[in-house]
Amino acid sequence: MHDRASGRLNGHAALAFFDDQHPPAGDFLADVLDGFSRSPKQLAPVYFYDAAGSAIFDEITQLPEYYVTRTELAILDRIGPELAALAGPGAVVIEPGSGSSVKVRKLLDALSEPASYVGLDISGGHLKAACLEIAEAYPDLQVGAVCADFTQGLDLSHLPLHDGKRILFFPGSTVGNFEPDGARRLLAGFRQAMRPGDAVLIGADRVKDPARLVAAYDDAQGVTARFNLNLVHRINRELGGSINPASLSHRAIWNADKARIEMHLVAGLAQEFQIGDSTFKLREGESIHTENSHKFTQESFTSLAESVGFRVRSTWSDDAELFSLHWLEPAAKA
Ligand code: AVI
Repeated sequence: MHDRASGRLNGHAALAFFDDQHPPAGDFLADVLDGFSRSPKQLAPVYFYDAAGSAIFDEITQLPEYYVTRTELAILDRIGPELAALAGPGAVVIEPGSGSSVKVRKLLDALSEPASYVGLDISGGHLKAACLEIAEAYPDLQVGAVCADFTQGLDLSHLPLHDGKRILFFPGSTVGNFEPDGARRLLAGFRQAMRPGDAVLIGADRVKDPARLVAAYDDAQGVTARFNLNLVHRINRELGGSINPASLSHRAIWNADKARIEMHLVAGLAQEFQIGDSTFKLREGESIHTENSHKFTQESFTSLAESVGFRVRSTWSDDAELFSLHWLEPAAKA
């Protein structure tokens, strides 16, 4: 039996809604062929995250060198009372790219009587399971799920949401994985979905000592190298590729001009390989560019946020200023 007050179905946690916006699946083959036809060669980082890649990413978040996750979680722990005061009671928390919905628990725990949580992700099966876990853990919360591609804007208008302040939660410095234009488009999409009084809580990794940054993306145990090479294993397995993974080395470099860590796979020897019917060549020393992770100063992040109509209401960092969380609100129209 469905108990409307608690949202429970036959005593089990249930979702208040599941809104499938049918995001088009990425075309892995077309994107790989396109990326390998460019100079320099490149691959899109979205393809890192198959089941194996997501599991390796979880390992990355535990590495001693990868300060990002633990620093952000510690900041979230520390600022709970301030977040509760900014959000007020009855907030509606919406998480684009919610994945396993783990970090958001810190936010939900901090807020005073949050009304709703909405997970939004491109992968529907995983999304439902993760949101059901939230519903199970927070029986008083209205929990819904939206299967959509958040990079294409947020369509929340038809969702049966409570009327509270909406808080878009976008942790992890995922914003840094977009090129500057893409980051602006992404935040502009968030801005468009917001009403006066709503807010974004967003994580952004900071510019810092390049040696520390490089170590975070080229760890001693080689976990990030495995993460990077998983892309090649995926291409070989899923697209019938014949790339020799043993001939490629993981490289993380700090690009100071663009304020970003770049991940590359560099060929140790010249080779020719097939993907489907197409043949490609790699020269010895040639690189395949697989990821950018942009880092921000307070000024560069503020200017990004302001360029799409936000004002930065609050910023919190750890003592060493490794990482920041920002509370953004729609700027009053001039
Ligand atoms: C998901 N994203 C924020 C990570 C980052 O730090 O840019 C992805 C990552 N790539 C290598 N290590 C972590």
